[in-house]
Amino acid sequence: MKGIILAGGMGSRLYPLTKVTNKHLLPVGKEPMIFNPIRVMIQAGVTDIMVVTSKEHMGDIVNQLGSGREFNCQFTYRVQEEAKGIAHALLLAENFAGQDRIFVILGDNITTGNLKPHVDEYLRQEKGAKVLLKRVGDPERYGVAAIDEKQIVDIEEKPAQPRSNFAVIGYYMYDQQVWSIIRGLTPSNRGEYEITAVNNAYVHLHQLTYGVLEADWTDAGTFESLEQANAMMFNWNRR
Ligand code: DAU
Repeated sequence: MKGIILAGGMGSRLYPLTKVTNKHLLPVGKEPMIFNPIRVMIQAGVTDIMVVTSKEHMGDIVNQLGSGREFNCQFTYRVQEEAKGIAHALLLAENFAGQDRIFVILGDNITTGNLKPHVDEYLRQEKGAKVLLKRVGDPERYGVAAIDEKQIVDIEEKPAQPRSNFAVIGYYMYDQQVWSIIRGLTPSNRGEYEITAVNNAYVHLHQLTYGVLEADWTDAGTFESLEQANAMMFNWNRR
């Protein structure tokens, strides 16, 4: 399995903190934000990792992360020239992934959890994809899953009237079908190639499973959630 950490985007919701540095290098607890997805990835057993980021910040990201030797992993880097969406950034990893399945983490997702059981479960799945859900109080900020007794039947990106409290969070597992799915996408109303469209394609194939993350989790892409991520990681380190 190959790992992909997506750390592009504009970070515009955190301006001016992101004027001269990449969002994923901002401090969360005692480390740069991106260390958390890296540690989650490695703990899940995935050590061959591509990091995708913007041209402006690639230098800083490489300076911070290096070859991966400090983490006991190997990093490969790719530039996303324009922030055209999460699925657009992911497609840059197609050659890197080859025939392998992939574990994708959004660089601003922070958790205290161990995702290895979820990844192991996915690898026992014959084919398809797996997403993780988290019960949240503000589902309108996320991709939201509508679930019948057993399955996800639809995912809506930032719905005004969410059909559940289950956010689809930024940990995604895909097989090789993901590449042709992304190539078939058209941009959404906000002009982005949406990861939610990719996940819905797997829903239509009846090949999307899910797990529920019980551990603490937050994204860190707004001032409020960044503060929450900091508090979460400081408390975790104190335990
Ligand atoms: O945090 C979970 C949520 O992340 C999901 O529930 C949503 O379904 C998903 O669309 C996403 O929503 P956001 O609005 O929070 O995504 P954002 O634009 O903040 O991007 C999240 C990360 O993805 C960001 O830290 C860097 C990466 N990214 C994003 C874009 C738009 C890229 O690498 N390239 C991009 O072009």
